[in-house]
Amino acid sequence: MSGTFISFEGIDGAGKSTHIESLRQAFQAQGRVVTLTREPGGTPLAEQLRTLVLNAPMDAMTEALLVFAARRDHLCQVIRPALLRGEVVLCDRFTDATFAYQGGGRGFDWNVLTQLESWVQGSDAGLLQPDLTIWFDLPAEVAAQRLATARTPDRFESQSRPFFEQVIAGYTRRFSAQPQRFARIDANQSPDQVGSALHIALQKSGHLP
Ligand code: TYD
Repeated sequence: MSGTFISFEGIDGAGKSTHIESLRQAFQAQGRVVTLTREPGGTPLAEQLRTLVLNAPMDAMTEALLVFAARRDHLCQVIRPALLRGEVVLCDRFTDATFAYQGGGRGFDWNVLTQLESWVQGSDAGLLQPDLTIWFDLPAEVAAQRLATARTPDRFESQSRPFFEQVIAGYTRRFSAQPQRFARIDANQSPDQVGSALHIALQKSGHLP
């Protein structure tokens, strides 16, 4: 596939959203067509699943199955077609979030997640993974302070600090398995500092001049 697939990860409160928008503009300034999307979500069906996952009580396996179902639809309808057209796909969360939240946070079976990942993202061409994953790394304590002033929390935002410590452990495990796919950004800095760290990471990885 000729496009570029970049995902954005981090615990709730890490501050991804602002920076994703600035990156969209940076790619557009290079003449690239950008598809900006998110998970769970990105298609009408997957957005319905998002509403359920963020609001309806359910067990960890149900959560994992629903986020992968949403991902399957998103890959088929949006991500693969955009990559085939040669576009830049900027995706606010992808499968690392499932390993971090369902695997780390909820303690759901890592091996089952690996199996689901290969079913949903596998093809004759191999496993579709982001070319680059930006990890906004923030201590759980700082994220909790930021979230304290946020709007009404969803099923994840309302979790306790130990839950987010486990989510961070999940991200760390994914990072350690494939460090070359990740750019780990220290998100415990001012938005300007995070923004410039992000642009440097994109340049180092050869995705922006
Ligand atoms: P988030 O990306 O933080 O969006 P917003 O900024 O609008 O709140 O919200 C998505 C939530 O879904 C986040 O708490 C993490 C969770 N999530 C999972 O638990 N598993 C997944 O596979 C994905 C993609 C997200």
